[in-house]
Amino acid sequence: MKPQDFDVYKNMLYAKSGYVITIDKAYLLESRLAPVIKKHGIANMDLLTMKMRSNPPTALVDDIVDAMTTNETMFFRDQKPFDKFRDVIVPGIIKAKGPNCTIRIWSAACSSGQEPYTLGIMMKENALKWAGVKFEIIATDLSREILDQAKAGKYSQFEVQRGMPIMMLVKYFTQTGETWTIKDDIKNMVQFRQFNLLDPMEQFGTFDVIFCRNVLIYFDQQTKGKILEKMAKRVHKHGYLLMGGAETVLGITQAFKPLEGERGVYIPA
Ligand SMILES: C[S@@+](CC[C@H](N)C(=O)[O-])C[C@H]1O[C@@H](n2cnc3c(N)ncnc32)[C@H](O)[C@@H]1O
Repeated sequence: MKPQDFDVYKNMLYAKSGYVITIDKAYLLESRLAPVIKKHGIANMDLLTMKMRSNPPTALVDDIVDAMTTNETMFFRDQKPFDKFRDVIVPGIIKAKGPNCTIRIWSAACSSGQEPYTLGIMMKENALKWAGVKFEIIATDLSREILDQAKAGKYSQFEVQRGMPIMMLVKYFTQTGETWTIKDDIKNMVQFRQFNLLDPMEQFGTFDVIFCRNVLIYFDQQTKGKILEKMAKRVHKHGYLLMGGAETVLGITQAFKPLEGERGVYIPA
């Protein structure tokens, strides 16, 4: 692929999602766009690039962004953040707000729903301990397609095997052949909404916890900084931000600082 053609996709992807791709990923671009070309009945990559240069339809642009962004996720991903949610974060919020409070949680960039459903399952599992607490989970993602999957709550054998303990699998899912569907009482705990992290965040109000994991890693420093500063305005003073294992606020923003001794957990500065 010619560098000037690659730039058409690179610039569009950056403007629409914040994702940064470099020319060494040109092979990935071509392989991931092959199904998009087919879906839209376009003969080849050169014709797609021509279309992209002249006011392309929104559906085509959305499909290209979807194809290029990474949706990798799993239930109880990395386990530790969820242990900290149970052992440090919820107790910390109850201490600040009282035992009969409402705890609002935002799973930003929730992909196919494993992260917010994991939180829903944890709330059921700890229901006795947190009897007076009301939880609200808002889960957002840029991709409509991945949100449709999340809302359906249907997972393959492979997807559930990747993180869901067997006891919880049989308790919270129903099985039809190779498909496992999350039960309605967990599904109904999560409100899914399409949202681009590049956009203003005021519409969501204020949260006690924000899970923003494994998405900022794809953005440049400037975009990371802008998103984190907007998030700092959306989290209560007593609140928490959780990031992925390869992510940090350090050197990016002073709006959050690490919670001492709790890797991956940040609090407003
Ligand atoms: C790798 S997944 C992370 C899922 C989950 N948070 C986890 O840690 O397992 C990244 C998700 O970010 C979403 N995403 C990418 N750019 C985004 C943006 N600008 N706004 C909102 N979501 C975005 C993608 O659609 C994808 O579902």
